[in-house]
Amino acid sequence: VEETYIMIKPDGVQRGLVGEIITRFEKKGFKLTGLKLFQCPTELAQEHYKDLQSKPFFPKLINYITSGPVVCMAWEGVGVVASARKLIGATNPLNAEPGTIRGDLAVQTGSNYTVDSQDSMLIPFGRNVVHGSDSPENGKREIALWFKQGEVCQWTPAQEPWLTE
Ligand code: GTP
Ligand code: MG
Repeated sequence: VEETYIMIKPDGVQRGLVGEIITRFEKKGFKLTGLKLFQCPTELAQEHYKDLQSKPFFPKLINYITSGPVVCMAWEGVGVVASARKLIGATNPLNAEPGTIRGDLAVQTGSNYTVDSQDSMLIPFGRNVVHGSDSPENGKREIALWFKQGEVCQWTPAQEPWLTE
């Protein structure tokens, strides 16, 4: 079955949004198979976001992700990767639709927006509260990266017979 790695980023934890965000995935009907509060070491953040290594905002991104505890989650379900990305919304909270987690709970702040800058580090970028894997392969890779053996739990939710016909 498909699985995805969802992570509530440090801003989501500090702003008290943990319950709200977990609730959205629970209510949708996906199965939670892993959950923990975790202070992410720098090396793990770098490994997780290694595809973005060459981006000018990479150092800021690593500082952000390691700035406080995160909530690590594994969720399972048919089509869970794409569906979770829809629930989460667009990367930049400015572009995220209402009804999505980022659209409802994240904002763009700051006034020093520099249109002609080539360096996107100088452009304020709204903190976007949550991460979701972008492919089933990355879902598996990231769950293996963030969870130790035995931390992911297989179980059968009592609601399962009520979800399909
Ligand atoms: P994740 O679920 O966190 O992986 O976000 P995403 O898949 O929607 O976006 P992507 O993987 O392209 O970028 C990872 C993270 O880097 C984003 O969630 C942002 O926190 C950050 N990021 C992406 N683009 C920019 C940018 O242009 N400027 C800044 N400062 N941060 C960015
Ligand atoms: Mg991504």
